[in-house]
Amino acid sequence: MPELRVGERQWTVAAGSNLLDALNQNGVSVPYSCRAGSCHACLVKCVEGLPSDSRPDALSNEQRQQGWRLACQCQVVDDLQIETFDPLRDGLAAQVAASDWLSSSVLRLRLTSERPLRYQAGQHLVLWAGQIARPYSLASLPEEDRFLEFHLDCRQPGEFSDAARQLKIGDPIRLGELRGGALHYDPDWHTRPLWLLAAGTGLGPLFGILREALRQDHQGPIRVIHLAHDASEHYLAKPLQAMADGRENLTIELWTAAELPAALAQLRLVSRQTLALVCGAPDSVDAFARRLYLAGLPRNQLLADVFLPRG
Ligand code: FES
Repeated sequence: MPELRVGERQWTVAAGSNLLDALNQNGVSVPYSCRAGSCHACLVKCVEGLPSDSRPDALSNEQRQQGWRLACQCQVVDDLQIETFDPLRDGLAAQVAASDWLSSSVLRLRLTSERPLRYQAGQHLVLWAGQIARPYSLASLPEEDRFLEFHLDCRQPGEFSDAARQLKIGDPIRLGELRGGALHYDPDWHTRPLWLLAAGTGLGPLFGILREALRQDHQGPIRVIHLAHDASEHYLAKPLQAMADGRENLTIELWTAAELPAALAQLRLVSRQTLALVCGAPDSVDAFARRLYLAGLPRNQLLADVFLPRG
């Protein structure tokens, strides 16, 4: 049976064991979120030996050459020595610049990083509060904001959101992997109808993309739909409305869960050129996507980012 080593510890595991499980079940705590190779919360470094990897394309060549692997996508086939991601050594230092509630369940966290981060609207970043890590989408714009902004859904208890509730201005946070890009704004879309459909805090990245589209003076009609549990959870209603005031090509629609079936049934495509960007929990993204297909939106004109529950 292969042997696994982490620091001073070593133990044997059954050949073919999932690396993330083999570590976590033996007291080596490795954070994870999606278990699907997309969030990169589970990065570990192989310092001796290599596991079998079902998603070699998920990391850059440079990262792979340095030994980084996504533990959730690896199986232990041979002896392996691992270093876990150390946010102090491997992450970028940042601190809390502001923390405030946008609704009873959405916490807005603004961070300043020790050095500028190159990112684009719609990407996500793994945040580390102490040893607790979780990926969150960026709601800020690199060209306009001096801070990194995140909208945290705190409705359900969770290790990271519980820790985030306690954060104060000046508290340290480490930044891990920057990921994503499925949701983005392309200047070639300049004159096309753009639909941004968000559920819950899926609005965060789409808010960034909306601002990017306006910054680039998007000329086509933009339709923003925000789906929330109830009216009190339309946490960006005022800033969205302020952006729409005086702009003929921007409309804002606020839907509650109770209104969803009727509102979806009314959804009609005005143009087959429409691009739809969808973000939020899987069931909501699925409901939006199904309706859009039925309405005739070509599949390659729908870009989606799904907030997977911790698997
Ligand atoms: S990539 Fe491994 S848990 Fe998300």
